[in-house]
Amino acid sequence: MMAWFRLDKPGPSPFAVAYGEMLWERTDHDAGLNVLVNGALAADSRFLMPIFLKECGEVFDGVDSLVDVGGGLGGAAAAIAAAFPHIKRSVLDLPQVVADAPYDTNVEYVPGDMFESIPPAQVIFLKSTLHDWGDEECVKILKNCKQAVAPRDEGGKIVSVFFDFDILFINGAERDEQEWKDVFSRAGFTDYKIVSVLGVMSIIELYP
Ligand SMILES: C[S@@+](CC[C@H](N)C(=O)[O-])C[C@H]1O[C@@H](n2cnc3c(N)ncnc32)[C@H](O)[C@@H]1O
Repeated sequence: MMAWFRLDKPGPSPFAVAYGEMLWERTDHDAGLNVLVNGALAADSRFLMPIFLKECGEVFDGVDSLVDVGGGLGGAAAAIAAAFPHIKRSVLDLPQVVADAPYDTNVEYVPGDMFESIPPAQVIFLKSTLHDWGDEECVKILKNCKQAVAPRDEGGKIVSVFFDFDILFINGAERDEQEWKDVFSRAGFTDYKIVSVLGVMSIIELYP
């Protein structure tokens, strides 16, 4: 950590300084860390998704299918299923994460890389995923979302949910509206809506 504070910015994240690789690279070969990280995120979803659905559940009104990109063990998808059982759901995440996902015949788990491609769906859902990354990576992810999402007149949209906590340790960023707007426009999106929930959560709807 001391070494990180002495770096000229922008530099590698504190995690990368400490371990010589990124968190998501390390979970591929550190089984204990993989279990710990995925379990912690699933717990986060169990706690926060019911609040999100209570406050802003209408974002899923009229939705028939969604893919949860970087959806971990499927905690958010399960919460959405409980509130909107008719929505066809898939979860895209890295192979080492999907391998540990609970068996659920109602969810399709897709091992893959969101920087390569995203399975098509009416709605693309990202919870605590975009803020893990720098601007260049966010633009790449969002361009892939644009390829995968249904047209706007068919109810297509991208729903991004995140919580304001310190994400700098893995080289991500919390951004203000102007900073998000710049990322969105570089990815080809011009129309969006931001809703704040409980002061700590933000939901952004992006329209193709
Ligand atoms: C902060 S976690 C959020 C997990 C989940 N959405 C949640 O809120 O609990 C970010 C997720 O992105 C996944 N991820 C990282 N790199 C990825 C990639 N290249 N393709 C797909 N998923 C990736 C991680 O494995 C992790 O599950």
